[in-house]
Amino acid sequence: MFNPFLLLPLMVCAYEVLSMILPLRMSLPAKILASLILIAGLTRIFLLHRTPSGFEMYELPHALMVVVTVIFNFIIVTLFLLLMKDFCQLFCRLILRKPFPNYHASLFVFSIALCATLYGTYEGLRLPDVKTHEVAIKNLGREFDGFKIAMIVDIHADSLTDREFVESLVERTNALEPDLILMPGDFVDGTVAARSSDLRPLKDLHSKYGVYGTTGNHEYYYDFYGWQKELPRLGITMLNNEHIIITSGDSQLIIAGVPDQTGNDHDTALAVKDIPGNSPVILMDHRPSEAPENSQHKIDLQLSGHTHGGQMPILYWIVRKFNRGFVRGWYDVNDMKLFVSPGTSQWNGFALRLFDPAEISLLVLKAKP
Ligand SMILES: [Fe+2]
Repeated sequence: MFNPFLLLPLMVCAYEVLSMILPLRMSLPAKILASLILIAGLTRIFLLHRTPSGFEMYELPHALMVVVTVIFNFIIVTLFLLLMKDFCQLFCRLILRKPFPNYHASLFVFSIALCATLYGTYEGLRLPDVKTHEVAIKNLGREFDGFKIAMIVDIHADSLTDREFVESLVERTNALEPDLILMPGDFVDGTVAARSSDLRPLKDLHSKYGVYGTTGNHEYYYDFYGWQKELPRLGITMLNNEHIIITSGDSQLIIAGVPDQTGNDHDTALAVKDIPGNSPVILMDHRPSEAPENSQHKIDLQLSGHTHGGQMPILYWIVRKFNRGFVRGWYDVNDMKLFVSPGTSQWNGFALRLFDPAEISLLVLKAKP
């Protein structure tokens, strides 16, 4: 059935042809070719939808996926720049009553968009660096002073972020020799049948106290029950409104987890019920937006992802608006600390990062003096 929502990308493409391609000094065949390339990039949107044969975007071969990703990213980056250019043009012509250098402005937009797209796509798809964060925790036993937690979130495995990427990610994480590995959601985009081999390298993750995870929203989009069985097979213990206690000497550290809000069974009170004494509590909750509510419980540190750090400057403010102001990095929420990872990989829907690198977060716990 025809989906009127699909008219929107076509309108964006038409706008970009009129506002950028036509003013450029190129031959007509070159303009037609450039327009067709833009339209080809839109296949990314059309393939997001299931076809009668069951073929979906994430099943495209890796190389083809990279090509349509570059074109699609170019369309999005160009859209932001063209809107600014045309606003300036209107201001110049209607308010200042002066001519506007449309050819040079269009050439400028094209050049900047091309550079930003190539750089941003590379940044979006490359293996992330490790970023170390020291965090002081109240009531942390001396046995846990210097405890290393590797945090991996938002892998979004698919044919763009495939097995090869996950293998390298596992290798880089293991090299940190973490005491614990935490993975608060968005492991994959696709069914178990299509994507389990891409995630299989996670089986090789190792740390002294194990690997724990919670679901993200994307786990609910494809084969939720299948992934609930498959992730534990990969050595990941999923914490669904529950906690575990890590003991070292006389000290304890509590790790709790709640499933993503998509499932409607997100229950922080249950996850931290009956926690003994004053032991510090670290909560995994995929989205940061529940932090104010979570801070009402006995939680010292919340670990989240989901926002991808905003991905690029203008989007940052939009993502901020939809996530109650929590986008990337550290926040104090009442007496609780919140860490929002920018993500360890990239979602294939818009795989671009500008001035917002992904990271493998290495959290080093420090006893609060
Ligand atoms: Fe998410």
